[in-house]
Amino acid sequence: MRKIVKVWIALLLILGITLPVLSTKAKAEDAYYQEPYRDQYHYSAQQNWLNDPNGLIKYDGVYHMFYQYNPYGNQWGNMTWGHATSTDLVHWKEQPVAIPESDDNAWVDFWMKTKDDAKPVHYIGRPTTNWDAGNPNGKRYIFSGSVILDKDNVAGFGKNTLIAYYTSTYQVAVRDDDYSKDSWGNYLGVREVQEQNMAYSTDGGKTFTKYNHQNPVIPVTQVPTSDAGNFRDPKVVYDEANKQWVMPLVSGQEVDIFTSTNLKDWTYQSAIKREHDVGNGVWECPDLIPMKVKGTNQTKWVLSISVQQGAPAGGSGMQYFIGNFDGKTFIPETKDTMKNPQWLDYGEDFYAGVTFGNTPGRTIMLGWMSNWSYVGEQKTSPWHGEMTLPRELSLEKQGDSYVLKQQPVGEVDDTLSQGTISLGDRKINATSKIYKTSQINNFSGTQYKVSADFSWKDKKKPNRFGFNLRESEDGSKYITVGYDPRSQLVYIDRTTDGENISRSNSKVKLEGDPTNVKLTVYVDTSSIEVFVNDGEKVLTQVVYPNPDHPLDSKKLSFFASNGKVAITHAIASHFKSIWEK
Ligand code: FRU
Repeated sequence: MRKIVKVWIALLLILGITLPVLSTKAKAEDAYYQEPYRDQYHYSAQQNWLNDPNGLIKYDGVYHMFYQYNPYGNQWGNMTWGHATSTDLVHWKEQPVAIPESDDNAWVDFWMKTKDDAKPVHYIGRPTTNWDAGNPNGKRYIFSGSVILDKDNVAGFGKNTLIAYYTSTYQVAVRDDDYSKDSWGNYLGVREVQEQNMAYSTDGGKTFTKYNHQNPVIPVTQVPTSDAGNFRDPKVVYDEANKQWVMPLVSGQEVDIFTSTNLKDWTYQSAIKREHDVGNGVWECPDLIPMKVKGTNQTKWVLSISVQQGAPAGGSGMQYFIGNFDGKTFIPETKDTMKNPQWLDYGEDFYAGVTFGNTPGRTIMLGWMSNWSYVGEQKTSPWHGEMTLPRELSLEKQGDSYVLKQQPVGEVDDTLSQGTISLGDRKINATSKIYKTSQINNFSGTQYKVSADFSWKDKKKPNRFGFNLRESEDGSKYITVGYDPRSQLVYIDRTTDGENISRSNSKVKLEGDPTNVKLTVYVDTSSIEVFVNDGEKVLTQVVYPNPDHPLDSKKLSFFASNGKVAITHAIASHFKSIWEK
């Protein structure tokens, strides 16, 4: 009996000690995803920095999203592949790091002539990611790349192995061939080196083994343009017609195409170069996407790339080109195709988008919702950076050209919508040259979808109309998503939302001379995605409204100025949070 009492006392003591510890831990966990600017249905890491999505793939009913991640901080650095999984493309569960930065100290020793060298120079020394700190640390970053499913064991790691291709990035000392002053050759400085590596996973993407037996599978010495520091982002896709794997990657301002049949040996085949001056930054994160033209049996290849500078809204953005692929070369549709890039998005924040592998019949793209030119201004904590909604792409022929359309994947509405609320048909008559609003009384919030058709007559053409979103209680602060029928521009204006910024760069011109437009906006705590006419054009924008009281900015209204607009099919739905337990 005494023994039993003792056991009970011991148990109570243990519980007394552990329960408070557990509940403090639970409280700390609960605090995540509740921060004032944390998007509630766009993916972000619980803590720390993320950028590009990498290695998007569906395997065994699970979608895998790997991404550029810094496990140690809320700024870019220590680049690693983070990992999250989902069964519906909407609810993501963060997983442990999948590919950590390399720490193998392997000594570097090769000669190479880049485009800026008169003759080859010697790359020799310990690789490092922190040269500025003085002492090379032996590390290499894991930059962007892709994952494929090796169903048939082509590579020899086993059936259904997931194989990752990524860029290994480091800096190393370079020296010349004059040994008179230094027995290693004269020190010329430090250079960035980028090479393509591979790693494989036999546990469904949880862990990856670096294939150092053959890494790098594409060494820097194989870079056709000799741009050793900008040779990155391999995206491997299957070419059904030629029964081979194709790897586009970027090199400066061109895409180089490599092919392989064993997934280990890669042959350089061709390059496709920039032929225009729109979007003049370095190219990044290419994708080569075979797509059926809607309503036909014809396949076209879409070459998409991210351009670091010069996009329509300023800074970074994404372009695409349509063409064919003959097994070696991307052949643009016409001789002018490469001269006239089309843009995937006209907001400031759609970048590094790539498509999922192994989703037959569906082309699903996910992007990083940011922009290198102002990413430092985004000051969220303890996380930094989030993904856009996954978008279903479709390719349509319009006249002589092909156009990509985008819609959030159906799973977004299906799993998140809490029911559709009608906002009622209405007309706004702002004939007295003034700006007039029409308050929506039965709907407000910070995470929802809203959509409406707007139409007008030429005679009473308004000079602006649309939605005021995330409006403060007193009506003084709001974000505008509108259309100006005179300039034919759909635009986002965040200059009135209480943030201390003057930018209102996100706009896109509609073709023809429309007399109606449909605007659908996915509003989240700190972002909006605008789909115009069911995804003909898209604008993605990060926003930090009403910094003092972000969650009080919930009201929603229509507005028009200097004319008359009719609003029909106006609907809205509150969205659930993807973080709810
Ligand atoms: C694009 C990018 C890639 C690179 C990665 C580094 O945003 O610059 O080209 O691989 O980010 O984090």
